[in-house]
Amino acid sequence: MARIRVAIAGVGNCASAIVQGVHYYSEQESEAGLTYRSVGGYTPDSIEFVSAFDVSSRKVGKDLAIAIQEKPNNTPRISNVPKLGVTVKRGPLLDGIGYLMNVVPVSREAEADVVEELISSRAEILVNYLPVGSTRATNFYADAAIKGGVAFINAIPVFVASDPEWAERFREGGLPVAGDDVMSQIGATVLHKTLVKMAVDRGAKVDETYQLNIGGDTDFLNMLEESRLRDKRESKTSAVRAMSPYEVPTRIGPSDYVPFLMNDKVCYIWLKGRYFGGTPVEIDVKLHVVDAYDSAGVMVDAIRGTKLALERGVKGELTSLSAFCFKHPPKQMPYPEAKAAFEEFTAGKRER
Ligand SMILES: NC(=O)c1ccc[n+]([C@@H]2O[C@H](COP(=O)([O-])OP(=O)(O)OC[C@H]3O[C@@H](n4cnc5c(N)ncnc54)[C@H](O)[C@@H]3O)[C@@H](O)[C@H]2O)c1
Repeated sequence: MARIRVAIAGVGNCASAIVQGVHYYSEQESEAGLTYRSVGGYTPDSIEFVSAFDVSSRKVGKDLAIAIQEKPNNTPRISNVPKLGVTVKRGPLLDGIGYLMNVVPVSREAEADVVEELISSRAEILVNYLPVGSTRATNFYADAAIKGGVAFINAIPVFVASDPEWAERFREGGLPVAGDDVMSQIGATVLHKTLVKMAVDRGAKVDETYQLNIGGDTDFLNMLEESRLRDKRESKTSAVRAMSPYEVPTRIGPSDYVPFLMNDKVCYIWLKGRYFGGTPVEIDVKLHVVDAYDSAGVMVDAIRGTKLALERGVKGELTSLSAFCFKHPPKQMPYPEAKAAFEEFTAGKRER
């Protein structure tokens, strides 16, 4: 079976979920939980993890299958991943960790040569799962991807695929780039986009809307530091704003850290508007998910789509795939349009 060789930057909960998920689907035929069993002939277990980078002393130097279970990772276990033969390497810290130095003890091991590691592991795609606010570190890994000749998928809210200068650099490097900020499978953003679009399409005037999120993992703890949050708010808000042709007062973002929720995320979406005859309407929705698996369900599609782009020699930003899989893509699309565009792209009927 053809494989997709993937490197990971940031062995946190999202990495844990995708590594476990790929193993989970390798053990059973069931399609339950997948948007697509096959993307261009690739199944989730076509994905092979060949290299990984972190900075935590609890994770660096360990096999990836062991490192994904180390604290403070706290997503539930869905499969027993055997040792993968991939040792987590020490990446450069840069701005990867903010005030959480006591939660993430930094490894004293020497930094690996990331470009050399990407080349020697024969990685094809580097996935970026760093903490929110890691702008310099993300730029470092994006640059390393270009130098190492690998595609880049940016799961976090630092703007790379949606930044024209970065997109141009990847184009010049002959490589595809996808992102930014993964849009979870049954997540707050896709639900909020769908509600606003439905209200607008059916003639209601949306007057105000908010989306408040709480969770108990390191991602939420890190996001208590408001200065790291600017791009996250922008990413989440722009996705919902794009669903309305007029300006709607909108407040969206992570709202608190509740430790005992662990990797569960609870989201409250509210919108107020007026329909026929100025009659008021309110929609109040609560969503409760396990955060990391919600991202993995989409990243398995993003990875397989990016592999097809590599095979076809597509360079620069992947617009259809990014609109379908990410909150802050180079081009926003309503969900059904993005899904149709992704399917045309994977079927080879659309260049990017
Ligand atoms: N549903 C979701 O979970 C979801 C959705 C959208 C976006 N995201 C984003 O994905 C990212 C990862 O989420 P997570 O829950 O796995 O976070 P996490 O905090 O559990 O994991 C981040 C990992 O990165 C490591 N790290 C920090 N600095 C590093 C560096 N310089 N080099 C290498 N590794 C470094 C940390 O030690 C940690 O292991 C976050 O930015 C999050 O906002 C997640």
